[in-house]
Amino acid sequence: MTYLTHATEETEHLGAALAKQLRAGDVVALFGGLGAGKTAFVRGLAAGLGCWGDVCSPTYALVHEYPGPVPLAHFDMYRIGSEDLESTGYYDYLETGHILAVEWSEHILEALPNPCWRVRFALLDEERREITIERGGP
Ligand SMILES: Nc1ncnc2c1ncn2[C@@H]1O[C@H](COP(=O)(O)OP(=O)(O)OP(=O)(O)O)[C@@H](O)[C@H]1O
Ligand SMILES: [Mg+2]
Repeated sequence: MTYLTHATEETEHLGAALAKQLRAGDVVALFGGLGAGKTAFVRGLAAGLGCWGDVCSPTYALVHEYPGPVPLAHFDMYRIGSEDLESTGYYDYLETGHILAVEWSEHILEALPNPCWRVRFALLDEERREITIERGGP
């Protein structure tokens, strides 16, 4: 499904709506460039899941964990090299029943499970984003 959002809040709402469809262990792979709205979407996901804590970009930490009824692990793979993916705990989180939201999934394509949720962001202009959500293979 493809959506058009016109404001940050609309992208957050879309994330919250997807949260209702997620099950423990699901991976949400996010694709799209700088400022595309990935972190905004994850903020909505966390709200929709009932997680607590303020969602911000894990650009330096690489992963932030948000506790909740179904806990969320939020990754940013912008700086990842394939050899240090293991050290982020990514593979461990796949086993723990967390929901994983992964920014810059372009950088870990081989490590994404199939199927997983794939969310692609296109930056149309300052306020508009085209967002495609699908569940499937590569
Ligand atoms: N429709 C929209 N959806 C999402 N964000 C929007 C929208 N319109 C404007 N914005 C703004 O665009 C920016 C999106 O930032 P965000 O951190 O979510 O992007 P990102 O994809 O996570 O970037 P990065 O790759 O740097 O992590 C924010 O400043 C947000 O307010
Ligand atoms: Mg981000």
